[in-house]
Amino acid sequence: MVTVILPMVLLTAAVPQSTALFHRLGGSGAAVGGVGISPPLGWDSWNTFGCNINQWEIEAQADAMVTSGMRDAGYRYVVVDDCWFDPQRGADGRLRADPVRFPSGMAALGRYLHGLGLGFGIYESPGPVTCAERAAAYPGQAGSAGHERLDAATFASWGVDYLKYDWCASDSDIDDQVQAFTAMRDAIRATGRPMVYSINPNSDVSGGDTPGSRYDWGGIATMARATQDVLWAWQLDPAGSLAPAVGVSQAITQTGSLGDRGGGDYWNDADMLVVGVVGEPGTTTPGLTDGESRTQFGMYAMMSAPLIAGNDLTAMSPAVRAILLDSAVLAVDQDPAAHPGVPLSAAQPNVWRKRLADGSTVVAFYNYADAARDFAVPLSRLGVSGACRVTDLWTNTEWTVTSALQHTVPAHDTALLALYCHP
Ligand code: GLA
Repeated sequence: MVTVILPMVLLTAAVPQSTALFHRLGGSGAAVGGVGISPPLGWDSWNTFGCNINQWEIEAQADAMVTSGMRDAGYRYVVVDDCWFDPQRGADGRLRADPVRFPSGMAALGRYLHGLGLGFGIYESPGPVTCAERAAAYPGQAGSAGHERLDAATFASWGVDYLKYDWCASDSDIDDQVQAFTAMRDAIRATGRPMVYSINPNSDVSGGDTPGSRYDWGGIATMARATQDVLWAWQLDPAGSLAPAVGVSQAITQTGSLGDRGGGDYWNDADMLVVGVVGEPGTTTPGLTDGESRTQFGMYAMMSAPLIAGNDLTAMSPAVRAILLDSAVLAVDQDPAAHPGVPLSAAQPNVWRKRLADGSTVVAFYNYADAARDFAVPLSRLGVSGACRVTDLWTNTEWTVTSALQHTVPAHDTALLALYCHP
C-alpha cells in the first residue's frame, strides 16, 4: 500500500473550551444508584445477531467472554437485545421469554451469566412496541408502555443488571421522552435492584434527530445514546439508503462534541462497538480495518464512552482480540478521574487530550484523513512541560520528549500517547 505523508501539521488554533452548559434532566443525583462509577463494559447481541438470538448463542458468547480474557479485563454485561420475548404477555400481564428460543427462561439465563461472574442485560422499549416490532421484523406489541412497574419487577426477579431502553417512536417531543424514560427509571428504583439504565432517545425519531445528544440525561439514565445506530463502516452517506445510521467517524464527531458532559455517574453513549463485526466487502458496510477499529476503540476510551462489543466473541481474530483486550486503552476509558477527553481545537478535532487520575495526560492523534499524517504539537499546547516520558499505548513503545510531541499516523488510525512529565 502506498501511503502519502502530508507535511508536518503544527496546531496553532486557540485551546478550545469546553462545551456549553447543559441543564441536567431528572435532577442532579445518580439516576440509579449502585451501578459503579465507570463507563459500562460489555457485549450486546444486536450488531452480529439481530433478531436471530437464542439461549444457546447467548451462553456461547458469555463463555467466550470468559475464555477470551474479556471478563478478567473488566467486561461485565451480556446484553440480550431485541427479540428475546414472547410476543404475547402472559395472562398475568408479565413479559415472558420466547418459548422456542429461550426455553429455559430468562431467570435461568441470568443464573448462567451470574455463575460466570457476568452481569445480565436485557432490552425493552417505552412505547407499545420495540424497534423490531415497529419495523415488522418481529411480531407482537411487547413494549413496556403502561407496564413499567411490572416489567421492572419482572426484570429484577430474573436478576437483570442492565436495561437497554430504546425509544422506537417517531415522536421526539422532549416532555414525552422525559416522562417515559423517567417512568422506567422510577420503576427500576422501586425494585431496589441496581441496574445500569441505558436509554436511546434517538431510535426511529423523525428526520434522524438525536435528542439523546441534545440534553444531559444524567438524572434519568446511566447512559444516553448520542448517535443514531453505528454500522460497520468508516462513514455513511447521510442521504444514502442506510441513513440515519452513521459510520464510526461520524459517531466520534457527534459524541465528541458533547465534551465533558459525562463523567462520574453518567456517560455519553456513542453506540456499540463495531470492532470485529463482519461486514460485506465492496458494500457501504464493509467492516472496519484494524486501524479504524483502533480509532473506534481508542476514541471511545478518550471520550469515557461505554464499550459494548458487538462482534462474535467465539470467532475473534487475533487483531480484534488485541484491540478489545488492550489493558492500557481500557484503563484510559475506565480512569477513576472520570474526565472525558476533549479535542484541543473544535475546528480541527484531530488532537485530543484526557487527564488521568494519576496525573498523566493521554493524547490522541486521531487521523480522520484518508492519507497518513505527521502530527506535531508543542507540549505547551498540551498543557504539560518539562521532560515527558511518552508511551504508545498500542505498542508499548516508549521515548522521551522535551518540546513537541510528534507521531506519524496511518489513514483512519489513531495513536494514543500517554505522557508522564517532570518539570
Ligand atoms: C434500535 C437500536 C439498536 C437495536 C435495535 C433493536 O435500532 O438503536 O441498538 O437495539 O433497535 O431493534
